[in-house]
Amino acid sequence: MRRILAIENESFGVDAWPAELFREYAADPHCCFIVAELGRTAAGYSIAVPRRGGFEIDSIAVRPNARGKGIGARLLRDAIGKARRSGAAFVSLTVRRDNAAAIALYRKFGFVRTATVPGYYEDGAAGWRMRLRLSR
Ligand SMILES: CC(C)(COP(=O)(O)OP(=O)(O)OC[C@H]1O[C@@H](n2cnc3c(N)ncnc32)[C@H](O)[C@@H]1OP(=O)(O)O)[C@@H](O)C(=O)NCCC(=O)NCCS
Repeated sequence: MRRILAIENESFGVDAWPAELFREYAADPHCCFIVAELGRTAAGYSIAVPRRGGFEIDSIAVRPNARGKGIGARLLRDAIGKARRSGAAFVSLTVRRDNAAAIALYRKFGFVRTATVPGYYEDGAAGWRMRLRLSR
C-alpha cells in the first residue's frame, strides 16, 4: 500500500486520495484493483468498480519514471478485460479536459467523449465523461 500511495502522490499532488479510500477499495469484493509491477516494485495501479450496468474506472496512474513504457495501456487493457468478463455493457470514466496523455490513452482504446462537466475538479477545471461500449 505504501508504494501505491507514493504513486498516487507523485501523480496527483494536492488531489491525491487518502490512504483510507484505497483501503476501502481494496476491501470491496466487487472492486477490480490491479497493480502493475516493474522489476519488483509497484509501478502503477488501476481501480475499477461495477456501476449502473457498466464498469467505472475510478483511478489509474503510473509512477512518473515508469511512464511511456506501456504500463498504463496494460492496466487499462486488463481492467477492460475484467469488465467484459463480468458482463458489463460499457466502461466509463472522468478525466480532466487538459489531461492530454490520459485522453490519448483512452482514445487509443476506443473511448469516446459523452459529456463535458464544467467545474468538475477542485480547481474549477472541466471533466470529460468518456465511455467505451463493450460488445457482448
Ligand atoms: C495517463 C497515464 C496512466 C499513462 O500511463 P503510461 O504508462 O505512461 O502510458 P503508456 O506508456 O501505456 O501509453 C499508452 C498510450 O497512452 C498515450 N500516451 C501516454 N503518455 C502520453 C503522453 N505523454 N502524451 C500523449 N499521449 C500519451 C499514447 O496514446 C500511448 O500510446 P503510444 O505509446 O502508442 O503512443 C500516465 O501518464 C499517468 O499516470 N498520468 C498521471 C495520472 C493520470 O492522469 N491518470 C489519469 C486520470 S483520469
